[in-house]
Amino acid sequence: MSDTVAVILAAGQGKRMHSRRPKVLHRIAGRCLVEHVLAAAGEAGIEKQIIVIGHGAEEVREALGPKYTYVLQEKQLGTGHALARAREAAGTAATVLVLCGDTPLLRPATLARLLREHQDRQAAVTILTAVVDDPTGYGRIIRDGQGMVTGIVEERDANPVEKAIREINTGTYCFKAAHLWSFLEQLQPDNDQGEYYLTDVVGLACRENLPVQAVAAGDPEEILGVNDRAQLAIAGAILRRRVNMALMQGGVTIIDPETTYIDATVRIGPDTVIYPGTFLEGHTIIDEGCSLGPGTTLRDCQVGKGSHVIHTVALESKIGPGCQVGPFAYLRPGTVLDARVKVGDFVEIKASRIGADSKVPHLTYLGDTTVGTGVNIGAGTITCNYDGEKKWPTVIEDGAFIGSNSNLVAPVRVGAGALVGAGSTITEDVPAGSMALARGRQVNLSRRSKKSSEKRQEKG
Ligand code: UD1
Ligand code: CA
Repeated sequence: MSDTVAVILAAGQGKRMHSRRPKVLHRIAGRCLVEHVLAAAGEAGIEKQIIVIGHGAEEVREALGPKYTYVLQEKQLGTGHALARAREAAGTAATVLVLCGDTPLLRPATLARLLREHQDRQAAVTILTAVVDDPTGYGRIIRDGQGMVTGIVEERDANPVEKAIREINTGTYCFKAAHLWSFLEQLQPDNDQGEYYLTDVVGLACRENLPVQAVAAGDPEEILGVNDRAQLAIAGAILRRRVNMALMQGGVTIIDPETTYIDATVRIGPDTVIYPGTFLEGHTIIDEGCSLGPGTTLRDCQVGKGSHVIHTVALESKIGPGCQVGPFAYLRPGTVLDARVKVGDFVEIKASRIGADSKVPHLTYLGDTTVGTGVNIGAGTITCNYDGEKKWPTVIEDGAFIGSNSNLVAPVRVGAGALVGAGSTITEDVPAGSMALARGRQVNLSRRSKKSSEKRQEKG
């Protein structure tokens, strides 16, 4: 659709959010509001997307990155004024799809249908409308005796008869570019807010007898605009429900969708089971046949086939196939678990790789560590990786056995097949195949001598 551009209006402040952040940057289901709109337009087949920015312009530009075209609306003088800023950037595009940055629930299929009907009916303007139970706050669609659309009236400018109309403007439209730009120049700020209303273009088109069409959104839920935090929560819940539904239809079991929080950006393979209280965020990818949760948060993680993760927090980590993680494990960024690794309770791992078939079953901290295959790390093992200034690496080679309650003072290497005796503080490399003991020798004293000394104390 190279002759169509999308223009997303996102320059407003969003006063009712009472926030330091621009409204369109508030996040639900893993994306900010305007990213959901951009994703929908992209999935509807529109390659070029122009974003009108103004309030918090630099913050918005930085958050969304360089793949979009930005135009600046320095003063927010209304939606018509905002769209006019995009004229140059739109170039010679024949069709302009206009969207608001605060309507994150629009579906790509709805936008595609709007575009198709606009083309098929050769319209000058096609408005996406909806019939809602409570039209408060929206512009009302005005029709004549033949049912033809003749204009849009904003609520604050509407008379009581117009206010009673339940067919509303969703703020999404298609325009024939040839007419649009000249109509925008003709807009007058003669309304209650003293703004240049994009909606007045509809009246101008009708006056010139140009064809104006309306397409109804099938699902009124789609058109919700987010203007305050309550609507943000409502939209978030709707998106979450949609994400969960799509996953379940793709073969994922979600025990309790109401208490399972999965971002729109997450991918999950079939036959994975997700237990309540689980948060899957960012670019997390889960293979098939896994079980996750309850009470688990995974952000930007990959989990291989058939792994079990329970009561765990993992960030920017890779969990290989057939692993068991948790309960109560904390995997920090840069953790890589190869196949069939077991990480048990009260274990923290950071920037470390654990080789296949190795076990870190309980009460351990591994930082900046490379662990080979088939290694056993005893309970209470700590890598002392930080000397107060620098982080140092630890290497534990294949088949090594680290006894319980050992400290490995980095930089240090434990060779293949070596054994570290329980309670050791290892400060020097352990050669392959050897056994290291580094702890105080046990002394056994006679208990009788202890008792007589106690008696002496009582007498004295
Ligand atoms: C607008 C429509 C209304 C419709 C509703 C749907 C107009 C005059 N009214 O009202 O008919 O029912 O959307 O949600 O268009 N913006 C700018 N620059 C500006 C003003 C606004 O970029 O100068 C952007 C905002 O950031 C927002 C969008 O345009 O993303 C809509 O603005 P908003 O103030 O929310 O319009 P509504 O009052 O909701
Ligand atoms: Ca709005």
